[in-house]
Amino acid sequence: MTSAKRIIVALDFASEAQAVSLVERLDPTRCRLKVGKELFTRCGPAFVEALQLRGFDVFLDLKFHDIPNTVAGACAAAADLGVWMVNLHISGGAGMIQAARTRLDAMSSRPLLIGVTLLTSLSREDLIAVGCPGEPGERVVQLAALGHAAGLDGVVCSPLEAAAVRAAQGPDFRLVTPGVRPAGTSLGDQVRVMTPRDALAAGADDLVIGRPITAAKDPLAALQAIEDSLVD
Ligand code: C5P
Repeated sequence: MTSAKRIIVALDFASEAQAVSLVERLDPTRCRLKVGKELFTRCGPAFVEALQLRGFDVFLDLKFHDIPNTVAGACAAAADLGVWMVNLHISGGAGMIQAARTRLDAMSSRPLLIGVTLLTSLSREDLIAVGCPGEPGERVVQLAALGHAAGLDGVVCSPLEAAAVRAAQGPDFRLVTPGVRPAGTSLGDQVRVMTPRDALAAGADDLVIGRPITAAKDPLAALQAIEDSLVD
């Protein structure tokens, strides 16, 4: 198993200074970075550009969900920013995904377009309450199929659903999995987790890992230990 850039470090920080103090210690040849809604809303596109100037691939995790024209425009803006990966909610529908993909395909270079299946924070009861009865795992597989047919390069899913999505969508569909915890580390608020090695074995391509690295006393050592755990 290879560990080359399989890890995306989630920069879940409330300030640019906190994020930079970690980023300064990370190596862009060994990991990628995820910028989510909190950091992006505080620091904006300039911060993403600064990360890219340091050589990092950036996953812009803004989970777009709006009418097709708006999402297509937002994806085009992400492409202009030069990000490596961008995402949207598959529940926005096939038309929204197709519009985003069509707009990106018209650009000279484009980010990977990834769909969020189900938020792992939603319980079966939450899903019933918003009109989506059934098994969450089956719904993830169904949403991944819809997203793939509409033009996604891959999906975000729990590592526990990775094997089923991989089996249904084949080897060329990218699976991005949060909910990853090295053996012996704190779960935090994650409930259904897998170790990095098990997540890759289940079919994950990219491992989104936040606190096991960002909250470690020595983040570089934590990253190194995760990489070591992936190598045969
Ligand atoms: O700190 P931790 O490793 O739990 O961080 C996981 C990252 O993945 C966070 O940025 C979180 O928002 C994100 N995420 C998640 N579950 C999802 C989708 C995204 O944990 N279903």
